[in-house]
Amino acid sequence: MERYRPTFAEIDLAALKHNLKALKGAAGGPSQWICPMVKGNAYGHGATQVSRQLVKEGVDAIGVALIEEGITLREAGVTGPILVFGWFSEESARACVSHSLTPVISRIEDLRAFKKGVHAPYSIHLKFNTGMNRLGIDKHQFGSLRSLLAEAKQLKVEGLCSHLAQGEDWGDENGFSHGQAAALKSIAAEFSDIRVLHLLNSAALLTGAVPKGFGVRPGIALYGAGELRERLGLRPVMHLHSAIGTVHHLKKGDGVSYNFRWRTQRDALVGVVPIGYADGYMRILTNRGFSLLRGERVPLVGTVCMDYIMLDLTDVVMKTGPVTEGELVTLFGEQGVSRLPADEVAELAETIPYEIFTAVSNRVPRIYKNGE
Ligand SMILES: Cc1ncc(COP(=O)(O)O)c(C=O)c1O
Repeated sequence: MERYRPTFAEIDLAALKHNLKALKGAAGGPSQWICPMVKGNAYGHGATQVSRQLVKEGVDAIGVALIEEGITLREAGVTGPILVFGWFSEESARACVSHSLTPVISRIEDLRAFKKGVHAPYSIHLKFNTGMNRLGIDKHQFGSLRSLLAEAKQLKVEGLCSHLAQGEDWGDENGFSHGQAAALKSIAAEFSDIRVLHLLNSAALLTGAVPKGFGVRPGIALYGAGELRERLGLRPVMHLHSAIGTVHHLKKGDGVSYNFRWRTQRDALVGVVPIGYADGYMRILTNRGFSLLRGERVPLVGTVCMDYIMLDLTDVVMKTGPVTEGELVTLFGEQGVSRLPADEVAELAETIPYEIFTAVSNRVPRIYKNGE
């Protein structure tokens, strides 16, 4: 469809390639198993385009949370192993097989579903609960696991994994993550012919070395966010842009937006920008957010509306001259050499960059550049 509104998310696939290379380096080089996570529409970046690029660059697998996400990727022609980290029924087990998706089985009942629904040889991964207490087979279920695997000869266990509860402490040998790694290793000792053990997420990759034999599943770092992104020189992949739609000349004391939660302290110029909470630009940023205009930070004033925000342009106009309709505004990402990282917006919004990215709604077109 034609675009009639200047609001868009620019997705820089060159930055994605750069980050993948940096993460492969941090993970120990090209021989280390890597499964970038593309669940949640590739953290809001567009799963199809991101996955195609990743597969082209060379990865061992890509990871999704839902079987539906995996099917969508297959239907878009994405090739290569796709790991599905969700739950399964007999029916979805069959759908998994018919779309050549690799299940990461985290419940005994899901293994039963595969045993019943799948009759030809099929590769699976198993996920264990090593302390996060969200997904994963528990220790007390190992007996049932052994007997089910002995009966389900068609299911070939190719990989074993777990998930870190606080990957940030990976650099600390006494941290919780190392206990989880040790638990996974001791489980792996009971299996033979396992191709891969995978565990590390972005936070772990950014805080410590990756021991040989541990595969990595980075998500947020791949998209250039996360607290320690600068350590690896990661680049933002998404830049959220819009433009000045109109400028109001206000008198000292005038109010702006619903319920006048901001009033001018002086005569002021306020620009209206067509992006709002229906686009995923969070309402909590009311009177807190910033945007970039001409590379300068301009404060967001008044209540964030469903379709619009307002910016106080007074200082930037005094510094750089009059603002005209159509001038580029960057909500996060880069504008020339100026940066407004999604991590910083997340902090202002009392959340994490994952939510900032995934909140960007379908209403915002993704424009891809530097792909293939
Ligand atoms: C199973 C699994 N592996 C890896 C990741 C990637 O985590 P991160 O984005 O923190 O690197 C996630 C994300 O939550 C996940 O659920």
